[in-house]
Amino acid sequence: MTSTSFLEQYERTHGCGELRATDDGKDVVLTGWVQNYRDHGGCVFIDLRDKGGLTQVVFDPQIAAAAHGLAGDLRNEWCIGVVGKVRSRGANVNDRIATGAIEVAAHTLEVFSRAETPPFAIEDDLDTNEALRLKYRYLDLRRPRLQKTLITRSQISRVVREYLHGSGFLEIETPYMVKYTPGGARNFLVPSRLNPGSFYALAESPQIFKQLLMVAGYDRYFQIARCFRDEDLRLDRQPEFTQIDIEMSFVNEAILQRVIEGMIAAVWKQVLGVELTLPLRRMTYAEAMDKYGVDKPDLRLDLTLCEVTAPCGRSGFRVFEAVVGGGGIVKCLRVPAEHAAKLSRSTLDGLTDFAKPYGVKGVAFARVQEGGAWQAPFAKAFSDEARDEVNRIAGAGVGDALLFVAEKAKAANTCLGAIRLHIGDKLGLIRKGEWQFMWLTDPPLFEIDDETGAVAASHHPFTSPRTADEGKLESAPGEVLARAYDLVLNGVEVGGGSIRIHRPDLQARIFKALGISDDEARQKFGFLLDAFQYGPPPHGGIAFGLDRLAMLVANVDSLRDVITFPKTQKGTDLMTECPTPVAPKQLDELYIQVKPELPTKG
Ligand code: AMO
Repeated sequence: MTSTSFLEQYERTHGCGELRATDDGKDVVLTGWVQNYRDHGGCVFIDLRDKGGLTQVVFDPQIAAAAHGLAGDLRNEWCIGVVGKVRSRGANVNDRIATGAIEVAAHTLEVFSRAETPPFAIEDDLDTNEALRLKYRYLDLRRPRLQKTLITRSQISRVVREYLHGSGFLEIETPYMVKYTPGGARNFLVPSRLNPGSFYALAESPQIFKQLLMVAGYDRYFQIARCFRDEDLRLDRQPEFTQIDIEMSFVNEAILQRVIEGMIAAVWKQVLGVELTLPLRRMTYAEAMDKYGVDKPDLRLDLTLCEVTAPCGRSGFRVFEAVVGGGGIVKCLRVPAEHAAKLSRSTLDGLTDFAKPYGVKGVAFARVQEGGAWQAPFAKAFSDEARDEVNRIAGAGVGDALLFVAEKAKAANTCLGAIRLHIGDKLGLIRKGEWQFMWLTDPPLFEIDDETGAVAASHHPFTSPRTADEGKLESAPGEVLARAYDLVLNGVEVGGGSIRIHRPDLQARIFKALGISDDEARQKFGFLLDAFQYGPPPHGGIAFGLDRLAMLVANVDSLRDVITFPKTQKGTDLMTECPTPVAPKQLDELYIQVKPELPTKG
């Protein structure tokens, strides 16, 4: 029988993960790939696989000699169709698969296509190098684990769409090819053949367009949008990624966060069957930096930091005093006695190397003894009063370990924040399986460079300052806090947004604080400023990294596991082998010349 006639005659009745004991006796049609085959006592057994699971199929010469004859040739990954009868496996139930109570006794077999021996087995938990998996991504995607993560991702999109549609949002698309504006993430550029010498940028997010949609009156907008950023890549970053992008008019932070929490709760309930307790926890940026050293604390771990700059600055210990004298701070991480006892020498010795990439020269370590004394190389240099004060601030008791980092605030926080996670991980203190959400609120509006004093927008230049801080925009920009928020889950920033500026006078002051002249502002954002002359509503929004959400919900470690065709760390696609050079003719059409001297690939 040819494939066409098979499919003209039969239609698939079930997926390979569906049949149960109650289906005993049914006539069924299954399609899929041969996971494995065994020839036992005259019968051929195969496990047939599709994205739903596995079903055992038996070819018995007593039932159908022709099908049995054909089955003898089957090999892994051949694509086939079978027609047969479900029968119980009686006492031979296979508990490892969902369909293990039954098998299908086939009377008809159709080979749709044969397969070469795949470069790696189509199984979970295989230890194949990732480059090979990415080169043969379509085979990698056949593995149940990846199929499961992509199904999870699809479910998240469905729940998000249903929730937002049900809450009065419209799904509206915005352009991917947009005007290039310097600042923010680095853009990918697209040359315009029709406008030689000019370029589009690929949108890093729909930000400006969604604000224009608010001006246009579409007061609840969302889009599941691809975003493009030419950044250095890490495990949680891809050059093209997907945002659940949202904007709302006539809201404040509380209203917007309530709507968003409803969406997150719907995803957790419908995809994971987990009931989240709302409202989610809130934490200010200041508290997060103080206690966790980062703006995205992982709250599955109870260890916290504290600041001990004041006592350390007058402790007599010259290393700390010099840092404090130079405008730095001293942060301390307390590891309670029951865990401190398990801190191995090698972990502690490794901390200095661990700290180096953060620009931190050393990590000081002390163990607290009876009466509060410290066992530490620098204990003698430290005054008793300063030590007692540090113990008091840190809440230190006998047996506790204290780890100190003295540096400029940013480096000290980032470094000790990372050490907190590193030690928590080594000691097994991060509670896997918990969902620790928090809204991070009130971050600074600007980032001010320690050395040059240059002012940059922490988020983007349309983020509103807190009303109470507007007076400080010119006099103390570093103290102005933003009406911005991030949603953090288990130490990962899954979403971020803000209430926007809709008053032209305030926007002009922000541009000024950022050192953007009126001319420059007009040139970059003229269309937005013009739009804001026509009755802009107060508005705010947020964007979620769908890939990051899916990574956490599906419980995988890399964004590459939730993106169908991801790029490598170097931004390449190993399957299609892109990017590639292009023919001179194509460049000519675009009036583009490539420099003769290209850097060698590192
Ligand atoms: P932001 O730049 O914070 O905000 O991005 C929002 C969310 O997108 C995800 N994300 C990424 N995911 C994968 N790879 C990347 N390279 C990457 N970069 C960001 C993160 C992040 O929280 N327009 C604003 C949002 C707004 O204000 O409404 C924006 O794009 O999960």
